[in-house]
Amino acid sequence: MSSLTGPQPLKTSPITRIAEDLRYERRATVPFPPGETRFSMKRTQRFGTDPLAVLLEAYARYGPVFTLRILHGNVIFLLGPEANHHMLVSHAKNFSYRDGYMADLFPLLGDGLLTIDGEFHRRSRKIMLPAFHKEQIAASIDVIHDEVDRALEPWHAGRHLDLYEWTRELALRIAMRALFGLRNEHAPQAAHDFEQALAFYAKDYLVQALRGPRTPWARMQEARVRLDALIYAEIERRRATGARGDDLLSLLLDAQDEDGGTLSRAHIRDEVMTLLFAGHDTTTSTITFLFYELSRRPEQATQPMELLLDETLRIYPPAWIGPRRSIEPFDLCGVRVPGGAAVNYSSWASHHLPDVWEDPERFDPQRFAPARREAIPKGAYVPFGGGSRTCIGMRFAQAEVDIIARRILERWRLDVDSGYKLKIRQMPTISPKHGMPMTVRAA
Ligand code: HEM
Repeated sequence: MSSLTGPQPLKTSPITRIAEDLRYERRATVPFPPGETRFSMKRTQRFGTDPLAVLLEAYARYGPVFTLRILHGNVIFLLGPEANHHMLVSHAKNFSYRDGYMADLFPLLGDGLLTIDGEFHRRSRKIMLPAFHKEQIAASIDVIHDEVDRALEPWHAGRHLDLYEWTRELALRIAMRALFGLRNEHAPQAAHDFEQALAFYAKDYLVQALRGPRTPWARMQEARVRLDALIYAEIERRRATGARGDDLLSLLLDAQDEDGGTLSRAHIRDEVMTLLFAGHDTTTSTITFLFYELSRRPEQATQPMELLLDETLRIYPPAWIGPRRSIEPFDLCGVRVPGGAAVNYSSWASHHLPDVWEDPERFDPQRFAPARREAIPKGAYVPFGGGSRTCIGMRFAQAEVDIIARRILERWRLDVDSGYKLKIRQMPTISPKHGMPMTVRAA
């Protein structure tokens, strides 16, 4: 049997990455779209702390296609329904994940679905798809209920907790057990390790470039090594004992695609790490933001759960940016865009455009009620991306968030601390910067 052959490993040295970006930029055969293309540390820092405001201001000034120089590089943003549809569906093949800033995730995730392209991606995704079919998700429902009930057991009226931290551990327990059959006693340590590894991405760009002992990079690597040990131990255990279950890891271990390709040990590790990351970080943020909104607007808690989730994911789409690199030059909304350029779509900014969404800052689940939903333009709402690389875990995530939220609401109301001011960080998904301190009250 042949092993599916992956691409060359990516270079992770910041100097090499910057040099590569500059090389791409010099090779551009057409000018960059209008925007702010001079180097500015102030803009770079502001983009790091409040990208939504920077993007919305640029949209108001330049329209849906514009350039911003972030640190050393000119980055193109495409916002709004037409742009999203272009990048995700109609011209998706003209955009590479691996050559864009998705590569920033490579040091942690390796060659999982998020950092690969083309045939290697297509075959890898095909192997994993059965694990996300409806029936398979239905089989995970019991695991989700069981974990949620256990996590809720110690709750009582008056209990104070950080909902973000609580949900991260729960979501990781669910992902570890439902997707990989991983034993749960490791969940608290793994949650801590993910927090430590992902904290790297919340640092300033310049701080991220530092290498050497005690730097955020070194701390990320330490956490990655511990997570790797956990994953490799499970792979070895399964291989040695032949133990298989109803889970994705079993599928990965036994997978053979149409060409007889199988997954190497390293590739399995990369897919497991990618799914553990993508499978818990996003749902954690969704639950946290949902209860933040409900705490401020308790009357909305009676809305149908589906609408509450849709609106939470509109205002706070955890995977807020979709980084790519264009392959060939193209035209969009009357603007020429070079090939070889860093190009991003952003669900977060697209979901807040004032000419697409009425009163975009208002939490209004009813905008997703059937009659109003029909009026939402194609491509306007993309919390799970779109096209052939739509989030593979979408149904799983929806089922999980639905169960957690319902279970909490059956008995409890959550009040955010008075004086709490939400500040959002990107690490690399959006989440509350200072956690979500809340008090449990009887419903
Ligand atoms: C509320 C929860 C979630 C949200 C909002 C979300 C969002 C997204 C988005 C926007 C993308 C596309 C990224 C892009 O276009 O650049 C994506 C891809 C992906 N998601 Fe999710 N996700 C969620 C939950 C999950 C879960 C639970 C899993 C796994 C169990 C998962 C696994 C993945 C993977 C592997 C990809 C890459 C797919 C590919 O490129 O083929 N996600 N997700």
